[in-house]
Amino acid sequence: MTTSTEGQPAHPGWEAGERRGSEPVPLSAARARPPIRQAYRSLAGAYDLRSRVARIERRRVVGRLRLQRGDTVLDVGCGTGLCFPDIVQAIGPSGYLLGIEESAEMLAGAQDRTKEQGWDNVDLLCAPAETAPIPVHTDAALFCLTHDILRSPSALQNVFGHLRPGGRVAALGPKWASLWELWWAPWWAAAVNLAVATVNNPYVRSFDGFQRPWSHLARFVPDLQVEPVLAGGAYLAWGTTPGTG
Ligand SMILES: C[S@@+](CC[C@H](N)C(=O)[O-])C[C@H]1O[C@@H](n2cnc3c(N)ncnc32)[C@H](O)[C@@H]1O
Repeated sequence: MTTSTEGQPAHPGWEAGERRGSEPVPLSAARARPPIRQAYRSLAGAYDLRSRVARIERRRVVGRLRLQRGDTVLDVGCGTGLCFPDIVQAIGPSGYLLGIEESAEMLAGAQDRTKEQGWDNVDLLCAPAETAPIPVHTDAALFCLTHDILRSPSALQNVFGHLRPGGRVAALGPKWASLWELWWAPWWAAAVNLAVATVNNPYVRSFDGFQRPWSHLARFVPDLQVEPVLAGGAYLAWGTTPGTG
């Protein structure tokens, strides 16, 4: 396993954790919420415990990648590596997994997990998905609970630039429950959305795009399928990139 780290803030007075793509955002524009990378600094310690509820859905999203022995996989925004066990089991020792994560504290969890398990086919890259120097072309990309990354066109551009034609993609994430899905119990949609807002508030930069969080992804994955899960308060999305690879 190797872990690499990207550089420091490029501009005095700008915070690296608030970079969007290659453009840093001035601190004045980010004051409404603490920078998310800073938030993950304190969230990292209890992250695994708090994320237990998503265990079944996590397994399902990895399953949608239809991984095979020997596959090369990107886990984008891998956090503490909670999806690693299912991925590594599916790709076997001949496969290769690269976890990309901008928070050093979250990535430390992934590093511990990888060391403990003795996986020597897992590498970790500490960098924003927008600019991560991805060194391989991959068969599959996973976006598990990574709303901010899915709303960043430059992050998707970077990741999809390293996915083979016919590559498989899967995403799991929170969304607003829509009245259309829950027309028979509109009060239930309101209750679900209150829960969605409360649970996800610490983990996302903003709720922008929560209506259809997969909308940017759909541009790269024309056959994208979407299934509401968790009473409409979350979704699974999966598909393949154009071409046959
Ligand atoms: C809710 S956690 C999900 C972690 C992991 N995928 C999981 O399933 O548990 C979201 C992760 O995405 C990371 N993240 C957010 N924006 C990012 C970006 N632009 N580039 C890389 N990582 C990012 C956060 O630091 C955090 O670790």
